[in-house]
Amino acid sequence: MEHKDKNFCNYCNKGDAMEPANIVIFGAGGDLTKRKLVPALLKMLDCGLLHPDSRIIGVLRGVEQQQWIDALHKGVTDYCPELKLDNEKWQRFSAMLKMISGDLQEEQTYENLSASLEELGGHTHAMFYCAVPPRWYTTIAAGLEQQGLTDQTQGFRRVVIEKPFGMDLKSAQQLNQELQEVLDESQIYRIDHYLGKESVQNLLVYRFANSILEPLWNRNFIDHIQISAAESIGIEYRANYYEKSGALRDMIQSHLMQVMTLVAMEPPVEFTADAVRDEKIKVLRAVRPFKVDGIKQQAIAAQYGSGCIGDEKVKAYVAEENVSPDSVTETFAGVRFHIDNWRWQGVPFILWTGKRLPKRVSEIVIRFRNPPFNLFDTHATPPLANSLVFRVHPDEGIALRMNAKMPGLTTDTQRMVMRAPYAENGDDVSEAYEVLLHDVLTGDATLFSRGDEVEESWKIIEPILAAWKERISVDRYRAGSWEVPGMDALFEGCVGGWHKPG
Ligand code: BG6
Repeated sequence: MEHKDKNFCNYCNKGDAMEPANIVIFGAGGDLTKRKLVPALLKMLDCGLLHPDSRIIGVLRGVEQQQWIDALHKGVTDYCPELKLDNEKWQRFSAMLKMISGDLQEEQTYENLSASLEELGGHTHAMFYCAVPPRWYTTIAAGLEQQGLTDQTQGFRRVVIEKPFGMDLKSAQQLNQELQEVLDESQIYRIDHYLGKESVQNLLVYRFANSILEPLWNRNFIDHIQISAAESIGIEYRANYYEKSGALRDMIQSHLMQVMTLVAMEPPVEFTADAVRDEKIKVLRAVRPFKVDGIKQQAIAAQYGSGCIGDEKVKAYVAEENVSPDSVTETFAGVRFHIDNWRWQGVPFILWTGKRLPKRVSEIVIRFRNPPFNLFDTHATPPLANSLVFRVHPDEGIALRMNAKMPGLTTDTQRMVMRAPYAENGDDVSEAYEVLLHDVLTGDATLFSRGDEVEESWKIIEPILAAWKERISVDRYRAGSWEVPGMDALFEGCVGGWHKPG
């Protein structure tokens, strides 16, 4: 497939011949649509991953179609200047847009949707994207089913569910059950945008397309593994969601535990959705259950106070709009997991995330054991721990940190870092949403969470949620600082301790 614009993704390598499809977005007036979905669809159209005869149908209310289209245009130009959107591109894209005004609770909305799909004739495939708060997921699925819109005799019908998928084990089980009453599991695409990130997918390629890593990838050589997502942003305008969620639910139960499964899983027998997900769930099943009396040592929570990010003064979490002044919600969470199987026995997996940290960095750090005997230990600069770092963002790529001799008449050691940027030109790195939307259109569920995986991950963190529910206070860290109480203790016994992103 020809690359139409150098500024756009290079994901076309995968480019299957695509048929026209209806892309229906519930919640089409929301932020996710403007910031992520529309830019991704625009890129897909531009590089041939979206058939030009497809239709994008937004379901929302309270505005006229033209107002909605103008708002989308503004969203793309504000949030994605790198797309260099010109008139011609926008005209081509906006010709695909159609709006259905309606309340998600009313049958009429789904009737109108059904009529609209009929009217567009011929375009029988449909993807339904739920870019709405979770309380609407089952209402939408039931509304679609009542109108026969989940029937796949004419073409595929796939429903994309955003996170959070439940707020605990019970609600996740209930949601799975309600969705599976009206949809086949193969029609449900539970999206976790971390799995769509190039460097997260690349992990599988690094692991299973090379022979040099796999022999080292176990308890004999690895001391511990750190998987992190540090953010400099605060909670922005999302207090209502975040107050109920906190960092553990928001990032660890979903994104970071998913990444952990990819790091820890055994080689799948083939690269298909179920083969990969079967291996991922085995990892989750091997996670050692948390015991109530060990949670203090294995899970830490903290909340940002006021401080500075760069030159900008920022307020404390409790001073954010719509946050209760005595809130104890954690904006930082760190959890030490153990995977009880042959490969990983004794290797801690420490997952951590936080808002209002000095910078936005997400990475996977594989920290190796120290040499069994160190000849250079007595030198002025003793050797440092070896690490292999997979940068998820920014500057995607890998770095190998080793010790080397200092030049000159000495055997003192110094840190040497071998870096391999993933793409020389950042523009060529695909964004998660275009990868994942394309996968839904081509029916590839490998990068989506299966129902049992989601339930298993909730089951693992339930004891932490239960213990934290009772808390009446929370530790604080200054916005813009790495001084987070409890983090050094969480790394007790780990070679090299906490790796603060550089
Ligand atoms: C979302 C969380 O799922 O991921 C946000 O709800 C977080 O709180 C975001 O900011 C981080 O995503 P990314 O791609 O910027 O690392």
